[in-house]
Amino acid sequence: MTQSVIIAPSLLAADFTRLADEVRAIAAAGADWLHLDVMDGHFVPNISFGPAIIKAVRPLTALPFDVHLMIAPVDEYIAAFCDAGADHIIVHAEAGPHLHRTMGLIRSLGKKAGVALNPGTPAEHAIAVLDLADIVLVMTVNPGFGGQSFLDSQLPKIRLLRAAIAASGRAISLEVDGGIAPGTAPRVVAAGADALVAGTAVFGKPDYAAAIASLRPGHQPEESRGAG
Ligand code: DX5
Ligand code: ZN
Repeated sequence: MTQSVIIAPSLLAADFTRLADEVRAIAAAGADWLHLDVMDGHFVPNISFGPAIIKAVRPLTALPFDVHLMIAPVDEYIAAFCDAGADHIIVHAEAGPHLHRTMGLIRSLGKKAGVALNPGTPAEHAIAVLDLADIVLVMTVNPGFGGQSFLDSQLPKIRLLRAAIAASGRAISLEVDGGIAPGTAPRVVAAGADALVAGTAVFGKPDYAAAIASLRPGHQPEESRGAG
């Protein structure tokens, strides 16, 4: 049986002059979640968008909003992202001094809580808060920009977290973000990922449905499809 994975296209790679069309198109193309990358120009060296944009696109789709906060400090903004329509709020382990308290705050507001790990952050930072985690997000690039190359060095961390999640007995999504494309998706899934964020590999393609399908397990690349 083919393993099923969540595909979460990142709106960061969409055409911002046509955001409404892009959100509707990605939902129609079979996306499972919509990933929203919030950057503050401080925690990461780039600035993207905040709660006002998320609130504006919220009515356009019923897809779960997977909000990735690359901001520090983060606690004082969590309520605003909940009000804007986030379903999942993912914070970086490095974004504040009290990660466990932050995860508790997200859950107290009725949202799924996620912890994100930079490439230089060990798995143990997520393992320490697994009791409150609904999502663990492993960054396979340094956060801040789309279109970067996948870091193979993160694969052992994904395997380690898969084992820790299994041992926890809790239903926790293991999401991977950065450089996900048809060549890298099977490798992270084999390592234990069950949710894949993809920006460039989806919004950078002319056919969004085909691009999403190309990331799913069991997908056969065009060139390997024989006539008989
Ligand atoms: C990077 C963001 C990613 C980014 C992924 O800081 O967290 O979600 O949009 O982009 P690609 O898929 O192009 O690497
Ligand atoms: Zn992201």
